[in-house]
Amino acid sequence: MRKIIASNFKTTHTRAATRDYIATLDEFMQKSEYPWEVYIFPPATALDKHGVRSDIRIGAQNAYPTVKGSFTGEIGKEQLDEFGVDTLLVGHSERRHIMGETQEFIAQKFAWYKEHNFNIVYCIGEPLEVREAGEDAVRRYLVEQCEGIDTTYERLIMAYEPVWAIGTGRTATPDLIEKTHAVIKKLSDRPLLYGGSVKPENIAQILAVPGCDGALIGTASWDVSNMVSMLEISMKQKDDK
Ligand code: PGA
Repeated sequence: MRKIIASNFKTTHTRAATRDYIATLDEFMQKSEYPWEVYIFPPATALDKHGVRSDIRIGAQNAYPTVKGSFTGEIGKEQLDEFGVDTLLVGHSERRHIMGETQEFIAQKFAWYKEHNFNIVYCIGEPLEVREAGEDAVRRYLVEQCEGIDTTYERLIMAYEPVWAIGTGRTATPDLIEKTHAVIKKLSDRPLLYGGSVKPENIAQILAVPGCDGALIGTASWDVSNMVSMLEISMKQKDDK
């Protein structure tokens, strides 16, 4: 069973700060022989391998479905290739709700990068009003977010990130995560992460949830010592859930 911890830097950290962060993390990974897969998603300006010697995988938070072209402000596969980046975050709620990406466009982006054999971390999750409308509404919403997506793609990692729990300090309960993950597992048998206010104080509980294969962490992972603490906690996780 694959176990995965991912950090989404969002619009945080410069290129220099990312280099320092990764150097510290790299040292920890080597010393501890850290056994889980670790993905870091720095901002586009900080994409690079940063000389990693351990198995830290660097991914992009976003890219346009093109090799190159006239898409002002975007980056394409040519720019990712330069840094050996072949992992992409797709469908993050901030891109859906702030940048206005539609399901149709997200599906197009997914299909294009799938065609080019990228590892894709695909995020889905309901906003508060849908959660409050009940479990059927949540299930319908999650099904819609999988529309046009090949949920069987072998290089796919799914992430359940309820919008009301992202960056709010409000974490979903283990019970809610377990129930929702069971719904998503019916849509995709790929590894499934939970994301939304994961932090050192709650990560053990979250990783212990049946059907949870890891975590996608924003805010609490931006401080590398916090990130290392969370990795240390994950190493104590029993594999018998
Ligand atoms: P958060 O973000 O940990 O700050 O809630 C998670 C995410 O958006 O991936």
